[in-house]
Amino acid sequence: MRMVDVIQKKRDGEKLSEEEIRFFVNGYTDGSITDYQASAFLMATYFSDMDAEEQGYLTMAMVNSGDQIDLSAIEGIKVDKHSTGGVGDTTTLILAPLVAACGVPVAKMSGRGLGHTGGTLDKLEAIEGFHVEITEEEFVKQVNDLKLAVIGQSGNLTPADKKLYALRDVTATVDSIPLIASSIMSKKIAAGADAIVLDVKTGDGAFMKTTEDAEALARSMVAIGREVGRNTMAVISDMSQPLGYAIGNALEVKEAIDTLNGEGPEDLTELCLVLGSKMLIAGEKAKDTKDARNQLNQVIQDGSALELFSKFLEAQGGNPEIVKNPELLPKAAYQIEVKSTTTGFITKMEADEIGVAAMLLGAGRATKEDDIDLAVGIVLKKKIGDAVKSGETIAVIHSNTENILQTESLLLDHIHIAQHAPERPKLIHKVMD
Ligand code: URA
Ligand code: CA
Repeated sequence: MRMVDVIQKKRDGEKLSEEEIRFFVNGYTDGSITDYQASAFLMATYFSDMDAEEQGYLTMAMVNSGDQIDLSAIEGIKVDKHSTGGVGDTTTLILAPLVAACGVPVAKMSGRGLGHTGGTLDKLEAIEGFHVEITEEEFVKQVNDLKLAVIGQSGNLTPADKKLYALRDVTATVDSIPLIASSIMSKKIAAGADAIVLDVKTGDGAFMKTTEDAEALARSMVAIGREVGRNTMAVISDMSQPLGYAIGNALEVKEAIDTLNGEGPEDLTELCLVLGSKMLIAGEKAKDTKDARNQLNQVIQDGSALELFSKFLEAQGGNPEIVKNPELLPKAAYQIEVKSTTTGFITKMEADEIGVAAMLLGAGRATKEDDIDLAVGIVLKKKIGDAVKSGETIAVIHSNTENILQTESLLLDHIHIAQHAPERPKLIHKVMD
């Protein structure tokens, strides 16, 4: 087989075989196919698209390019959740103990991400003593005992995706739906998921800015799941404003604890119930959404989800007292209130810019080498549609430096206030399965 023929076929909009796609992925991973041919192939895919079958082949070729985590020693259907990323998205910290308390095993592999705040791993490390350096045997045993464990990303998962993603980044081929869909799905499958629940964000603070694009991505991933035999469901949720109120690592842990206590923000709680329901159904612990929501509400109300969260923290070296006393979390030196200069209604809260404001405080990383400050961040006091008076606090900046002028002006510039009440954005745009 010659790579030039594979490129030409895709350029001309023809369908590729499993063999041809595997030839490309394996060749690029082992270095026998060059960057310039791979670049041409990616651009041809960008313009010519791939059908569900081709996307399934691409996904599995990337899965098979490296190690796969074997979770077969864990009883039950392992359901993983993936979010395409937003601002202040604390759902994993809540969903993991929530669905585990309902009997779905949660065996989570987590890495350190780039972004406005850290990843799930960074957030958990805001809890004193907590660590993810456990062996695979300890990991499996803990999931069987407690239904919940988190392990750090290890081994050589989907090296083809790593290499291709880096090339896409410099060839203007990141925002191609078949390439994004196969990239995300390959990582979930290599990490051992039997079933996958996707939270595809849409709006200003999301990767997919429009609902149409978000839906197209979700449809592709659900179709890949069907092609490769992993039950996959998707929810399209709103990211036109940050989720919940807290943006920052320790601040989000506290928000997660509040939510597990039944006292969380309305939007965050509802999204967790929607995604959690899908996870219970995929894990065959609930027969329908009504049954699932009843079970999830039950483990919130009777305290068992929070209790499980505390046992999980303790099992991995963390201080379990944190769930009763979130004051033990790292705290920033300064809490500075940002006040509205006008009276009216919040009409817009630009999630991405608010995320940047949190990152400037040190809550997130711009490059892999950056250190992050677990204590800092922003706690919003309002959502779109809320009334606000001149002089009223709209956000609190948690900072370890006194100079917060840049963060403050970003917040004032990107939280918009007008005279007329806007329509509140819909939280769930669509549910697909
Ligand atoms: N996230 C991924 O994991 N892969 C992509 O291609 C885009 C976003
Ligand atoms: Ca939040």
